[in-house]
Amino acid sequence: MENQPAQLGVRIESLRIEALSAIAEASDSGGLKESRVRFLGKTGSVSLLSEGMRTLSKEERPVMGKLLNDLREAVTAALDAKESTLTAEADAAALATIDTSLPGTGAEAGSLHPLSLLVDRAVQIFRRLGFAIADGPDIETEWHCFDALNTPADHPARNEQDTFYLPDGRLLRTHTSSIQVRTMVANPPPIRIIAPGSAYRRDEVDATHLAQFTQMEGLYVAPGVSLADLKGTIEFFFLELFGPGTEIRFRPHFFPFTEPSYEIDLRTEALDGKWMELAGCGMVDPAVFEEVNAKRGDSVYDPEKVSGFAFGFGLDRLAMNLTGVSDIRMLTENDLRFLSRFTA
Ligand code: DAH
Repeated sequence: MENQPAQLGVRIESLRIEALSAIAEASDSGGLKESRVRFLGKTGSVSLLSEGMRTLSKEERPVMGKLLNDLREAVTAALDAKESTLTAEADAAALATIDTSLPGTGAEAGSLHPLSLLVDRAVQIFRRLGFAIADGPDIETEWHCFDALNTPADHPARNEQDTFYLPDGRLLRTHTSSIQVRTMVANPPPIRIIAPGSAYRRDEVDATHLAQFTQMEGLYVAPGVSLADLKGTIEFFFLELFGPGTEIRFRPHFFPFTEPSYEIDLRTEALDGKWMELAGCGMVDPAVFEEVNAKRGDSVYDPEKVSGFAFGFGLDRLAMNLTGVSDIRMLTENDLRFLSRFTA
């Protein structure tokens, strides 16, 4: 009996040495786990020693209890320290196989759509001539789209077969010319605007037609605006856009809202040297000014005092020519192989 506490003390000390060296030798987390169970588990060595406490006297118990507690704490601390060492070593080994000097998988930079690039360029050129940008709704009234533009009720453009009508009688605008009307109704002269935007027609979609396409309207109204101004402006624009050596031809044509009216053809060596129809234009018909005056309730657009020119370009066709695309549908299919060829 006398010997017991001393014996217990010796066993605690030898268990400490055994446990600490086993922990120090553990080479992976599996081995460390085994040591944890072996020494601290429910039936582990430290727990079994604790059972020996029962045979001790009242005085001896706290002394041995403290020794055992110290042992448990020392083993726990050694296990935890070894565990973080092993984890750090495993992490370092894993990282050693990663070459941080390799290039990463960078995010791809997008680019503007060729049509947007063209609109930007066109806007820049017209801005240098003092044109502002105007806008209007894609869903239009018949009055803005046709009546105010001197287009009679029996005009083919108004046919239901050619136009997208809404049940309430409005329609998807068939051209951006409606923006001319909106701008004049809202503002007195002088007016000098361009208006890029979508237009819609019930066209069979094929290599040269889309049911939704992009136009750019232009309008200049002030006292004394002449046909020479129109020709000079149009020529300047296309020479800037296509470069020197570009030829422009004005071919007499008919549009209800201009008089005289022309179609504009363009020829450049870069585009096979063939004449290509690009736009319509003309001098604003006095009948349009009268419609606008009636709507405004004044006569600031008195055809005796102001005159003007207007034009409308199909931008899809221009974009096709500038980029060498032969099928207009490529402009709407969003195929990245095609779109990524164009950058600003
Ligand atoms: N709006 C016409 C079209 O879509 C194009 C046009 C022709 C616009 C003559 C004009 C113009 O402003 O003066 O076919």
